[in-house]
Amino acid sequence: MGPGGFRPPSEAADKLREPKPKSFCDVPGYVRRLVKSFCQRLGYIIKLVWEAKPSLLIIMVIMAVFNGVSPVISAYISANLLNKVAEVILLETADFALVSAILLPAMLLQFGYMFLVGLINSVSNMVTRLSGELVGNRVKQRIMDKAKTIDLSSFDMPEFYEKFENASREAGNRPIQVIRATFSIVSTLISALSFVVILAAVAWFAPLVVVFLSLPSAIITFWYRKRNFNYMRRRSIDRRQMAYYSDTLVNKDTVKELKLFGLSDTFIFNYNKVFDRYFGGIKRLTVGEGIWSICISLVTTLVNCALFFYIAYTVTMGSGKIGDYSLYTGALTSIAAAVASMVTTVSTIYEGSLFIDNMIVFMNEKQRIIPSVSEPRKVAKHSAHTIEFKNVSFRYPGTQRDVIKNMSFTVSPGDTVVLVGLNGAGKTTLLKLLTRLYDPTDGVVLLDGHDIKEYDVSSLYDMYGVIFQDFGKYAFSVSENIAFGDVGRELDAERVKEAARSSAADEFIECLPDGYDTPLMRVFDKNGIEPSIGQWQKLAIARAFYSDSDVLILDEPTASLDAIAEQEIFNQLDKLREDKTTFFVSHRLSSATMASKILVVDGGVLAEEGTHAELMAKKGIYHNLFTTQANRYVAEHAENESRIN
Ligand SMILES: Nc1ncnc2c1ncn2[C@@H]1O[C@H](COP(=O)(O)OP(=O)(O)O)[C@@H](O)[C@H]1O
Ligand SMILES: [Mg+2]
Repeated sequence: MGPGGFRPPSEAADKLREPKPKSFCDVPGYVRRLVKSFCQRLGYIIKLVWEAKPSLLIIMVIMAVFNGVSPVISAYISANLLNKVAEVILLETADFALVSAILLPAMLLQFGYMFLVGLINSVSNMVTRLSGELVGNRVKQRIMDKAKTIDLSSFDMPEFYEKFENASREAGNRPIQVIRATFSIVSTLISALSFVVILAAVAWFAPLVVVFLSLPSAIITFWYRKRNFNYMRRRSIDRRQMAYYSDTLVNKDTVKELKLFGLSDTFIFNYNKVFDRYFGGIKRLTVGEGIWSICISLVTTLVNCALFFYIAYTVTMGSGKIGDYSLYTGALTSIAAAVASMVTTVSTIYEGSLFIDNMIVFMNEKQRIIPSVSEPRKVAKHSAHTIEFKNVSFRYPGTQRDVIKNMSFTVSPGDTVVLVGLNGAGKTTLLKLLTRLYDPTDGVVLLDGHDIKEYDVSSLYDMYGVIFQDFGKYAFSVSENIAFGDVGRELDAERVKEAARSSAADEFIECLPDGYDTPLMRVFDKNGIEPSIGQWQKLAIARAFYSDSDVLILDEPTASLDAIAEQEIFNQLDKLREDKTTFFVSHRLSSATMASKILVVDGGVLAEEGTHAELMAKKGIYHNLFTTQANRYVAEHAENESRIN
């Protein structure tokens, strides 16, 4: 366990981590496993880049080889030029032709080569920039593809957000960074080895000294990279909190309250508080690493100075050529630089590959809402269905309380079911179980006599047309917002209008500047319109009507509608009743009077079941709720009457 008590975000992360060796004999195996998992991560990254664009990978390999040999060639060319200059000095001649003949070819070579290096550098920058974007995009695609398949239950857990944040934060730029670093290692290795060969002529031990000197630096760097990674992963919560505070400040839905309650400063204050905490950790890590590296570089400088002196001494005693001094000291400097850069680069790869873990952990997020049988059933569409709950109990993941308790009921084809119950009774949860957004903790939900788990999930979802209380509002056009109810088919303008008519949305749509083509919301389009919440609700209901579904589920769809609009929608539902099963949640119990079945949910229990007449006769919860509401209406009515008179 690292300093600060690093806790992995999930079991999956645990599996990715190598257990520490317990005894000395374990060490080789441990190292082998480490290298293996490192190579696996590297392979994963290379695959990502290859998927993004194969040609980029090939160009990068070519660049890496060139960058490797280039410093050696350039050192030879410079040394050659220096030696020529020295030769000219020794000649002590003023003959222009002779001097030019000696110097010019060497000069041309030097500058020609510099131009080539510049050219390759430009291309390399271009490739890096482009490949960065492409690979970032590729990773984003993968994350979106994965997000598509993630169960709703995952969204109830903070760990999931942590995994998602960790995966998407760095995964965009880390792969390309790791690839570049890997290639730069290849280049550095090639050039460092060549310089070692060159330097061996005068000071064979110098490279060893350099490598030995780099060890403390390597250890410190690796240690800090690991700490940095752990810190970043652990503090995902800080970043998510900061994002939450700053997003809330510019969120259209919350900004009204923030202004009127004067909450903005509270949010900014909280943001700063979290930032200070987050920054404190980063500062400690960065300063700590900085101090170490200053100390190390002090020692390194002293030793290098001694080595330079040794080379100067050897060269003056030997060939005495100035170019040779330049070549050997250049070689030494390059080796030192190469070793230093190797330490940084390897640690970058190491850290980058750790960050890739985050992505792998996210990609491994388990999907549980899948068919329980190997050959899933398809739902027979365009027919009426029987739905049965058999002793269904449910608690939300990560909680201890049953929200649905041992519920059993049957809904026959063509039924209109109204769910009645107080807030928090479990009505919405029941609908989530019915549609298999969640699986029951106990019991089964049967569709046409078979467990819904046996059905193909998308075929099952296709059968439902659902509008939840917190329905989606999309920044698309009016007709697209409606047609999202059935994306499987091409947008049918007539059907869109028909659906809008059924949900009483047609009236306001026709008054819009561009009718059905009017863009909604004003985030992207200055001509966009912002419907009122009741208008949004009508659009959402239109979406349900548009869907080619057999079971229509409307969860408090009329809460924001006026009584007349609600009545119109009921009439439409009545018309649909023939070939569809409808579930309806409403607090206005007048809607229940026409239902073929009323389910009264009370504290997660199915308290009463029957038609309006049956339940009124029973004089239980429903009777109580209904008479309270009816009395209120009657009282209001009487009051209005007396005011008028
Ligand atoms: N995602 C969730 N995680 C944990 N508890 C939840 C979640 N959603 C709802 N609940 C709880 O389940 C209970 C029933 O909620 P819900 O079905 O939405 O009630 P209703 O729709 O009848 O108002 C409530 O106590 C609520 O707090
Ligand atoms: Mg609800």
